[in-house]
Amino acid sequence: MSLGSRTKPDSAAPGEAPASRGTDLSTSIDSRRIEAGADELPGPRGLPLIGNRHQVRFDRLHLDLEDWAGQYGPLYQIRFGPHRVAVLSDRAEIQRLLADRPDGFRRPRYLEAAASEMRLKGVFAAEGEDWRRQRRIVVDALNRARIEDFFPGLAITVGRLQRRWERAADAGDLVDLCRDLMRFTVDVTTQLAFGIDINTLETSGPTIQRHLAKVFPVLHRRLNSSYPYWRFIRLPADRRLDRALDALEIEFAAMVKTVRERIEREPGRRHSPRDFLEAIIIEMEAEGSRVTNEEIFANVGNLLLAGEDTTANTIAWTVHLLAGSPDWLDRCRREIDSLTASNAPGLVNFEQTQRMPVIDAVSSESMRLKPVAPLHMLEPLNDTWILGHRIPEGTTIFMLLRHLATRDEHFMNGDRFDPERWLVKPEDRRGPHDHRAFVPFGAGPRFCPGRNLAMLEIRAVLAMLCGNFDVLPVDRAGVREQLAFTMFPTGLFVRMRRRQRP
Ligand code: HEM
Repeated sequence: MSLGSRTKPDSAAPGEAPASRGTDLSTSIDSRRIEAGADELPGPRGLPLIGNRHQVRFDRLHLDLEDWAGQYGPLYQIRFGPHRVAVLSDRAEIQRLLADRPDGFRRPRYLEAAASEMRLKGVFAAEGEDWRRQRRIVVDALNRARIEDFFPGLAITVGRLQRRWERAADAGDLVDLCRDLMRFTVDVTTQLAFGIDINTLETSGPTIQRHLAKVFPVLHRRLNSSYPYWRFIRLPADRRLDRALDALEIEFAAMVKTVRERIEREPGRRHSPRDFLEAIIIEMEAEGSRVTNEEIFANVGNLLLAGEDTTANTIAWTVHLLAGSPDWLDRCRREIDSLTASNAPGLVNFEQTQRMPVIDAVSSESMRLKPVAPLHMLEPLNDTWILGHRIPEGTTIFMLLRHLATRDEHFMNGDRFDPERWLVKPEDRRGPHDHRAFVPFGAGPRFCPGRNLAMLEIRAVLAMLCGNFDVLPVDRAGVREQLAFTMFPTGLFVRMRRRQRP
């Protein structure tokens, strides 16, 4: 399979098919031979059978792909075994592809297959009509009004995180930021999804979070495996995953039972469901509905997985960047102190979370430089043209979202941590600042439906942190990026010190 030809573009605009389709794969054997020769897309040379597999490390795939993009440009190709992958970092084309879903492009079929095998084919992996139906329920469960109603529960969870860090500060303990923040986000998402407070922040027994933690590393490995070995042999990690999924199924089943009983007791909820699970169960019971028990499990799992790692790691990266930038930490503090002058330190109410421009600028800058989804995957449903190259139906396309957002042509001094760029008035800007190149939550019809919730969590936690603690980094230079479906920091430990007030 060839990814396309450089021969055509007469004068086609990005994304448009050029007038001549001379080297279409479906034409003749001769044209195929010509296309596979000199006209191939650029890309790193690989070895005959394995392609470029030996040149990448899958736990840092995004970094390898970004390096190659610097060398080969906005569209190049790589090969993993027999599979060719197109790697795209052109702003207009990325926006076009993301917008042209679900009809023109879809998440890769192998993602859907891997999610199905892991009993997790919910809204994230669904396509077509199935996706539309599930998306409607999810968007409704995460809409702004619901999130605002939910804020008091979120504030209680922020208070628990604060007490956890106060205990660590008083004992002089190291804080594993990602672990604590994941407990926080799983508590928040479970409350929103089930209306149930599992409080993993203050309990030490087995937690949903521990089971969820098994999912992404295995999913990442399977997505990058050229042979589906797990269908024939279960390695220890696969067996651990099976056990974790069994345990999650049991936990979710118990929660579904509790929620069903609650609906029975309070039938009024049928008209105004208060959480995601109520909404999905009511939908399921509605006459003619096609929502299945498997879909409930898959979607609850999707919400927890989509909401947990992403938000926790975004906050962790932001704290890491702030810890290396005392001036910005100070500006955040001043914003929070003046906003919360009459509240308890760092404790914001919902209305105040909507007025935190400095915190927002810092978190935008963190998501630009350290996006938890630096790499996004799609495939075309039909043969298509990208930057004048013909890309056959079913080809995996990797989109380099971080590379896009850090290039100087889109953001001035693109590699620099400079939150000021988000605060300066457009007329005072001295260089490029292209919002369309900044897509940490994706774009188009599949744009992240959890963005409002995520931003609320980020603001509430950063306000609490800035208002109450000094953050002392431990081996800041040793923190590394690692990819396991999402991109997270390794080695990110800090010490918290209670903030001294004058
Ligand atoms: C900082 C935190 C977060 C980031 C950076 C993030 C990022 C993303 C991205 C990049 C996508 C793919 C979008 C696309 O295909 O265009 C996505 C999808 C999704 N996210 Fe988030 N997300 C975050 C938090 C959340 C939260 C808190 C939830 C819910 C509790 C959530 C639920 C979802 C769901 C359900 C999808 C699938 C949407 C679909 O396929 O239609 N996310 N997210």
